[in-house]
Amino acid sequence: MAVSSLVRVALLLAGVVLAQNGTRFSNSSLAASTSAIPASTTIGGTPVANPSAFATNFHLNVEQLWDLFVGPISTASVNTTVAPTPVPSSELIPPPPLYYSPFPSGQQQPMYPKNASWSFPSNFWWGVASAAYQVEGAAKDEGRGPSIWDVLTHRVTNFIAHNDTGDIADNHGDNASVPFLSNIARIAALGVPYYSFSISWSRVFPFGSGPVNEEALAHYDDMINTCLQYNVTPMVTLYHWDLPLVLQNTYGGWLSQSIVNDFVEYARVVFGRYGDRVQHWFTINEPIVFCGFYPLPSQYFTQTSIPAKQQPFFCGQNVLLAHAEAYRLGKSMMPNSMISFKTNGGHKIPLTNSSADAQAVQRAWDFNEGWFATPTFLTGDYAPSLKAYLSTFLTPFTAEQKRLINGTADVFAHDAYTSQFYYAPDGGIDACLANSSNPLYPACVNTTYTYSTADGGWNIGPAADPGSPWLHKATDWVPAFLRYIQDTWKPAGGIAVTEFGFAEPFEYSKTLLADIRWDPIRSQYYHDYMQGILIALSEGVNVVGCLAWSIVDNLEWSSGYTVKFGMQYVNFTTQERTYKASFFYYVDAFNQYLQK
Ligand code: GAL
Repeated sequence: MAVSSLVRVALLLAGVVLAQNGTRFSNSSLAASTSAIPASTTIGGTPVANPSAFATNFHLNVEQLWDLFVGPISTASVNTTVAPTPVPSSELIPPPPLYYSPFPSGQQQPMYPKNASWSFPSNFWWGVASAAYQVEGAAKDEGRGPSIWDVLTHRVTNFIAHNDTGDIADNHGDNASVPFLSNIARIAALGVPYYSFSISWSRVFPFGSGPVNEEALAHYDDMINTCLQYNVTPMVTLYHWDLPLVLQNTYGGWLSQSIVNDFVEYARVVFGRYGDRVQHWFTINEPIVFCGFYPLPSQYFTQTSIPAKQQPFFCGQNVLLAHAEAYRLGKSMMPNSMISFKTNGGHKIPLTNSSADAQAVQRAWDFNEGWFATPTFLTGDYAPSLKAYLSTFLTPFTAEQKRLINGTADVFAHDAYTSQFYYAPDGGIDACLANSSNPLYPACVNTTYTYSTADGGWNIGPAADPGSPWLHKATDWVPAFLRYIQDTWKPAGGIAVTEFGFAEPFEYSKTLLADIRWDPIRSQYYHDYMQGILIALSEGVNVVGCLAWSIVDNLEWSSGYTVKFGMQYVNFTTQERTYKASFFYYVDAFNQYLQK
């Protein structure tokens, strides 16, 4: 049965310190230090207990981890059968026409003919994506251990809009229920050939390392086999932000180099189990974003003494090492596989044509995409502007580490939702660099979604839901963006847009299903984004695939369930799914332009 009842873990809880050792951090064993601390001390002649002596080493099983650190978990009460019902043909009828249409959906008369000079190569891979914590639910089922997100959602009040949790989500992780089977059957019914999902590390390793949970492995066997049964090629991400809680509390998670071995051992188990059926792998999703979560909210996790501004970069350093080792291991176990990590960002446009804004744009690339792409695609090390800052507190990579890191991505996998303008801070970049208390330090660049006043002050494009204020439809910049990546990082295996999508404004407030199904701005976003990729392809940019976010409505991290990215609506009471119009617009791009 579940690992919880069988396995116990030694967890150094009280007083665990992340001790600084040069610029490296390691967990110091409290058990070792307590032996030197007397159990009591004498104050004014009276013996009193020494508080430090209360710190001790004790053992917790998975159930106790949940009880102590997370608290009660909700469970799904959906009564469904295991066999998915076939999708009725009436659900596969595309929506009526929207705008102009070079992608006639079948039911409409095209106003413009198809563009004969555009096409997706026949081996172009396209599909839809999800991530474990956002869709799985079944949070405690079958021995899953808690991740930091279970703590963030349950314990940190108002960290998530409406204090939503991932306890049930889309119930995608529940083996005894229909959702994951039906998700796969429903995308197959639309002819979607690829599905990218992530594995929950703490489902497989409830404590992050140590005992492996066979029930979790069997669950993902089912997922992968179901995909294959429906002719949907599975693509797997190992880490999409749901760090096993124990690893955060024992050594600070991604802040410690100890994570490298644990990540690689996790990768070894997963590659070994599914490598015969899965060829496309992503090690780590968007380190720019999750390294930016550090420092985690205080008082919920074991503390660290690393200064707050440095924490994201300690995380990044360990991400690069963990990814590189997992990549090398994966290629040795599965020589024909495609392995990469997923970075994120968007096109960076100078707000004005000043040289200061041009410099700001360069720094923005260096501190975002370049943070991970320059080491993995070009040099094994950080770009000079980033290194100038990092070398003040991080141990430089050794020559061996640089060799390890360089060349560890088979494609440039980029999650690219939008674009932004960049400009130099007031007072200039140099003044900012000389003042570490400037809020823009260390990147020392400013950003905005609006054109300059001289250019009219318009937003770069229509805004998404107010719950995603970072997102605007900026699809005009897609060709330039893809060209920039190709020219700058020269990825030999090409570029894949591994996530893109749009939160339809105010979708949450619609109450009628008929209204929800019509998502015009998201539809236009997909239509125009695909057009952007087609233009880039026709101009010689080697785009090899794309994955739309997301297969279904899901837990949008700190925005909870109010912000919707799904191309399928989910009724979270019944777990029923309904295709939205945007799904048809996305699929139709391939019906029209994929070379047979
Ligand atoms: C990405 C992230 C996804 C999803 C999406 C929409 O950055 O990888 O998990 O939340 O953004 O915001």
